[in-house]
Amino acid sequence: MRVLGIESSCDETGVAVYDTAIGGAAGLRAQGLYSQVALHAEYGGVVPELASRDHVRKLLPLVRQTLAEAGLSVSDLDGVAYTAGPGLVGALLVGAGVARSLAWALDVPAVGVHHMEGHLLAPLMEDNAPAPPFVALLVSGGHTQLVAVEAIGRYRVLGETLDDAAGEAFDKTAKLMGLPYPGGPELARLAESGIPGRHRFARPMTDRPGLDFSFSGLKTQVLLAWRDSDQSPQARADIARGFEDAVVDTLAIKCERALDAAGSDTLVVAGGVGANVRLRARLQAMCAGRGGRACFPRPALCTDNGAMIAFAGALRLQAGQRADAAVAVVPRWDMATLPAV
Ligand code: KG4
Ligand code: ZN
Repeated sequence: MRVLGIESSCDETGVAVYDTAIGGAAGLRAQGLYSQVALHAEYGGVVPELASRDHVRKLLPLVRQTLAEAGLSVSDLDGVAYTAGPGLVGALLVGAGVARSLAWALDVPAVGVHHMEGHLLAPLMEDNAPAPPFVALLVSGGHTQLVAVEAIGRYRVLGETLDDAAGEAFDKTAKLMGLPYPGGPELARLAESGIPGRHRFARPMTDRPGLDFSFSGLKTQVLLAWRDSDQSPQARADIARGFEDAVVDTLAIKCERALDAAGSDTLVVAGGVGANVRLRARLQAMCAGRGGRACFPRPALCTDNGAMIAFAGALRLQAGQRADAAVAVVPRWDMATLPAV
């Protein structure tokens, strides 16, 4: 089954074709991504209306380009998948409108995909993929969740952030030290030249049982350290390193607890912060230490992309699930309410 996937929930327009007959990493026939980062940079964050309008401009050309790269035409498609939520309502409607119309015109089924399920299943597209049950850590700009994956489509949220998401904490911390939007990857790059241990920030909520997170207090600690410093490039790098170590440590401690709670040794990590090199190394070491493994998608499939939507949608379409002929989106959507596959 050849499925076109469309992602438009926030500030990236993503399109991909996944072929289940090939499967694995090779099943990803082509993918295209257009990032709106430059468009939103001058505002220091995503402006929803500008995001919607840019998806309108970029989506159809990107669909054409991706199909051409795959050597396919629209008539070769067996289904269309689109991000139906959670996300910005206007941005979601652009993807849903195009996807639903295309499926209608081609007389093929369409399915709305949960964005976080897309992230969660992305590692399963890679070769040597793990099979459920496992524990997933979802760390993106909007979400930080630990999920017990009992089967594909059967998700139990074990813990989540009570305030900022991990990626949001990276972005806000970067911003208060004067780094341009989106600061997360830049902060991580800076941390490479920071001296470990020069700043020690808290590991929030690790001193008590439980699997929830809270990252908003870290910002304040960073702000105070930044104000008290000489604000030199080295001071910025040292603080970045202290911040990154605090987030990575906190995530690793909670992941280990979640594996214990779920009786599992397999951890799947997904979402934009999953591209963080130090987090990857730390979680791999933690899982290896208990005889298990940590699975990540390649970094390009950690951040938002169309491939994860094509893949997750293909699994649901193969199971016979379909969206009816309406352009419907779900800006707030609890993953635990999804139907099993
Ligand atoms: O999954 P994603 O692309 O979009 C959402 O669904 O939110 O995640 C984006 C988030 C941003 O907050 C970004 O700063 C963060 O992921 N991010 C990183 C890195 N790469 C992206 N954070 C830390 N280290 C990185 N290397
Ligand atoms: Zn995302």
